[in-house]
Formats: sequence, C-alpha cells, structure tokens
Amino acid sequence: MNNIKLQELDLEYIWHPCTQMKDHEILPLIPIKFAKGIYLYDFDGNKYIDAISSWWVNIFGHCNEFINQKIKEQLDKLEHVILAGFTHKPAIKLAKKLVTISPTPLKKVFFADNGSSAIEIALKMSYHYFKNKGQNKEYFLSLTNSYHGETLGALSVGDVKLYKEVYKPLLIKNLQTPTPTDKSLNAAKKALQDLKKILEQKASNISAFIVEPLIQGAGNMHMYHPYYLQKAKELCEKYNILLIADEIMTGFGRSGTMFACEQAQISPDIMCLSKGLSGGYLPLSVVLTTNEIYQAFYCDYNEGKSFLHSHSFTGNPLACSAALASLELFEKENILKKNKKTASYIAKKLESLKNYPIVTNIRQTGMVAAFDIKNYDPKERINLKIYTFALKNGVLLRPLAQTIYIMPPYIITQKEIDKIFEVIKGALQIL
Ligand SMILES: Cc1ncc(COP(=O)(O)O)c(C=O)c1O
Repeated sequence: MNNIKLQELDLEYIWHPCTQMKDHEILPLIPIKFAKGIYLYDFDGNKYIDAISSWWVNIFGHCNEFINQKIKEQLDKLEHVILAGFTHKPAIKLAKKLVTISPTPLKKVFFADNGSSAIEIALKMSYHYFKNKGQNKEYFLSLTNSYHGETLGALSVGDVKLYKEVYKPLLIKNLQTPTPTDKSLNAAKKALQDLKKILEQKASNISAFIVEPLIQGAGNMHMYHPYYLQKAKELCEKYNILLIADEIMTGFGRSGTMFACEQAQISPDIMCLSKGLSGGYLPLSVVLTTNEIYQAFYCDYNEGKSFLHSHSFTGNPLACSAALASLELFEKENILKKNKKTASYIAKKLESLKNYPIVTNIRQTGMVAAFDIKNYDPKERINLKIYTFALKNGVLLRPLAQTIYIMPPYIITQKEIDKIFEVIKGALQIL
C-alpha cells in the first residue's frame, strides 16, 4: 500500500475531526505507517517532525520504549474492567500519584476518558455541589477567547466562534469576563477589575469560574500573567464560587511547571487533566477535587445527592498504566529541569524571528512558543499554505488562523528545533 491508495480508501469511509472534508480535494491526507520519537513516517518513505505533539498529547514523542513496555505488561493482566463496583491497581496507583503531585487540597480523583468529558464532569460537579448545599447557581463564568472542548457543556464555556456559533441555541448558561489582553502585569490587573465587577453583580448565580491557566491553547496560544490567576482565586473565594483549572493542555510540564497553577501558587477547587496524562498514548482524563466537595456528595443513596456520572472507558487500565509510566519518566529523567534548557533554546530561536516584518506578538510560556502573522486575512487561508509548506519540508505544524506555534515533545533535540525554525523561516518567505 502507498499513500495514494490509502488516501482513496480513507476518503471513501472516514469523516475526519475538525475538518472541512472538501479541503481534501486539494490537500492530501497523510497516512502514517509508523512513528518513533518525534518523527512520523508515511507510506511513501517521507518523515515529518511532529512539532505539535500530535493533538498536544505525545509529551515523550511516539512509541517510547518504556511506556510501550508498561502497556504491554498491563495488556496481559487486565485490558479493561467496569470502574463502578470494581477497581484495579493501575487506577489506584495513578490516583494516589496524581494526588501526591497536585496542589495540596486536591485529594480525590474522578476518572473519565477525554478532555471534554472532564470538563462536563467539572461543570456538573460544581453545579451539583451547590445544589447539594441548597443553592441553585445555574451559571458558569469563563474567560473570553477560552476553549474547553467540543461537547455542549464545554462549548458553552468556550469562546472560539468557529466552533461555538452554530450551536448557540443549544448551550447552557454561561457568562464571560475579558481575558487579560497580554502577558503583562497591567493587563492582568485590568482584567481583574472586570472580573471583580461581574462577580459583585452576578456571583450568587454562578457555580464556578473555569479557566485555562496561563495559556489559552485553541484561542491562538494567548498567554497571560500568573498574577491574574492568583487574584482570581482570591476573588472566587470571596464571592463563594469554585475555581476550575482546565489544565488539559497546560498540565504535565507544558507550561514550564508540572501544572500551570503552580506559577500562581494557587490551588483550584477542581482541576481537569488529560492529553499528556497518558503520555498521549490512550484516551484518559481525570478531574481532581477537594475533600470538601467530595463530602458534599457523600450521604445515604436515598438522599439523592450522588454524583451519578459515568463513561464506559473511565479509568481504563491500559491508559492508567501508560500514565504511570509517563509520570515515572518525569522523575527518572528529571524532565522539568531538562525542559527549562529546551525552552530557553526555543526562546533564542524565537528571538531570531523578530526581524521578519510580517511577524508580530512573539510569545512563549514553557514548552509552548508562538507568534502571529501581521495583517492576516482569514479568506486567504495562509495557515493552510504554511501547513502545506511545512509538511513538504518535513515538519508537522498546524497554525491556528494567524498564529504559528510549536508545542514539541519534550525529547526534542536542539538540532531538531533548528530544523523546525529553518522550515518556519522558509514558510515566512513564501507569504
Ligand atoms: C484546554 C483544553 N480543554 C479541553 C480540551 C478538550 O479535550 P478533548 O479534545 O480531549 O475533548 C482541549 C483540547 O484541545 C483543551 O486544549
């Protein structure tokens, strides 16, 4: 089989995610035969650097021998079991480990199997928590420009028009407060004034404020100052609403610390994790929360306060084993320290884009680096041009409108970073 044969077969049967399928009349799909480290290999012998860790997930690259081995060992013991009424070692070990490495008050782990489900759980849990305490708080609060997933609850609290607009009539009650306009302290302070205002007026109807800590991923890698988070947490406490940290993208070292919340020295009431959790291998997510929230649901069954949410593949043992292996790698290889070096090398390369007249708004937080193309006209679809150019030159980039970003696996070398920037510079020449 070669690329073309597989492309034909694929288009006959598959409807791809987040894709206008008609684009594939001009844009060939790339069938991947195998992957190793940061490289993807297609059926025609081409290789591509995965500069975005697939969908921001493969933090140790692809087919890592250690993670592979741990999944294989688990596969011969238990592939899956219902997590209601039953349990298993990988889930217990993982829950214990996550509680150990998370901000202190987070003590209980609720399992799910993807990021959007974790968000649904966090929203339902927040609303239900207050309901169990006799308060009906029907609204959520989120930041403008936020993204929390594609299911209806997650879309409701998100703010990316492209995904949300058409479904507006179906969405749940949500209010939005302006996100800080940039990474400066001043922008954080200004946005906090807006947050305070809305809380003064509406907090009695709001269950939770949900944020992507420090980096709004799908909102074009928009970044803001940790001060915003720090003070937002204080305001949430003052106005009696819960703070949900959506660390689905930022978690597991991506922001430069294990969790982005650490940089603001705060502990959210609820924290959602997925993506890098299983090393990007298998669908898995968790929602961590406090004993206080857990206790608000703990009662006799007939009191009707139980949290009866579930997914069939919740806490899958293979996914939990991958997650345990991934967390072991963090310790064994001192990944957070290594990433600091890698991130400062990326910073130097980013700096070298400064002199390109079409480049603006260069920014970085930890292992996420981004910049924008000036005077972007969405109709021109230059993001598609850049995507195609990069692929032709052996790099997988997936620009978000005017934003070009990299979010590479942590195992990337300086030479490979050089190659990515060479290709980015080449792409800038063709615009
Ligand atoms: C911050 C954030 N939250 C939630 C999600 C949704 O996760 P999933 O795609 O696994 O549903 C994403 C996905 O990109 C995300 O970046």
